[in-house]
Amino acid sequence: MSKRVLLTTTSFQDTPGTHQELLNSQNWEIVRARGPLSETEMLELAGEFDIFLCGDDAITQAVIDKSLPRLQAISKYGIGLDKINVDFATEKNIPVLFTPGVNHTTVAEHTFGLLLGITKDIQSNAVAVQNGEWVAGWRKPIGNEIMGKTIGILGLGRIGKEVAIRANAFGMKIIAFDPYFDDAFAEEHGVKKCCSMDEVLLGADVISLHCFLNDETENMINAEKIAEMRNGVIVLNCARGELVDTNAMAEALKSGKVGGYGADVLDAEPPAPNHVLIGAPKCIITSHIGSRTHESVQRQANRCLHNAINFLSGDADVLCANGIL
Ligand SMILES: NC(=O)c1ccc[n+]([C@@H]2O[C@H](COP(=O)([O-])OP(=O)(O)OC[C@H]3O[C@@H](n4cnc5c(N)ncnc54)[C@H](O)[C@@H]3O)[C@@H](O)[C@H]2O)c1
Repeated sequence: MSKRVLLTTTSFQDTPGTHQELLNSQNWEIVRARGPLSETEMLELAGEFDIFLCGDDAITQAVIDKSLPRLQAISKYGIGLDKINVDFATEKNIPVLFTPGVNHTTVAEHTFGLLLGITKDIQSNAVAVQNGEWVAGWRKPIGNEIMGKTIGILGLGRIGKEVAIRANAFGMKIIAFDPYFDDAFAEEHGVKKCCSMDEVLLGADVISLHCFLNDETENMINAEKIAEMRNGVIVLNCARGELVDTNAMAEALKSGKVGGYGADVLDAEPPAPNHVLIGAPKCIITSHIGSRTHESVQRQANRCLHNAINFLSGDADVLCANGIL
């Protein structure tokens, strides 16, 4: 019997590349949906599937329950597993497969796009020019260089390390905190080790968040932590919106305590039209596109597919996040 597979990720589906040929060469019945799907939408679909090829869809306990006994594996297209109830999947012996190491360079490049967008006021100037206003004379914005500034990286994992490599190229000083700090990498790339998140907050002109979301990191950047930061600090978030207390960030942008917030992610995606960060001063938000390049999508989709194909054929080349394989 051919396998029945639910494919929800849109960048996988919409981007041409070798992954499309690999997918089409499988003898699978593929049901396509346009994710990320809410729990309600997932519950409507869940049931007779052997594999989920999913993005940031809500794969809750109820969704997994409804998908059993047929569901054999969840193959996440990406690395962040915060929308999947991994503990429940583990309890039910369902492997959660994922794709670390495929999009770190792309997300790091995006991080610098946001940073330069803020420091040179590129977004508002470009929008004005596009709208026919050639901002001239004394009204031209005056920005800041990033050379010589200190970037503080919270989470020196795959993406954090790529950010450090690029920060060096820009002539920045680098400090970082990670509970599993890679001393060898830090030595090689001139990253100063901090023993706590607070040490980073105190010492950085730019703070870039690259840790995953869990109970410990949710709202890690809140009013109290913002108060510890340097005046006019720039905060970058290409990880997860929930790492930052949105209201506290909006207040800090308004008061000028935070001199810029560049985020690829929000605590609600898509956000409500009246979300406090939309239209906030010195705030650039992109719609979770940090990992979306033709290069990265192909790598990620192929890894996600290989995980599923290899799992089904018993091949050991599978990246499993919950220790079942
Ligand atoms: N914007 C996007 O499109 C996009 C794409 C890929 C990943 N992401 C996000 O970026 C995150 C990081 O990805 P990665 O590939 O670098 O993951 P990774 O697992 O390689 O790195 C995460 C690092 O965070 C560290 N960490 C954990 N708790 C911490 C804490 N309290 N303080 C400081 N560091 C802490 C971990 O030790 C680890 O080294 C993902 O979890 C995901 O949420 C976003």
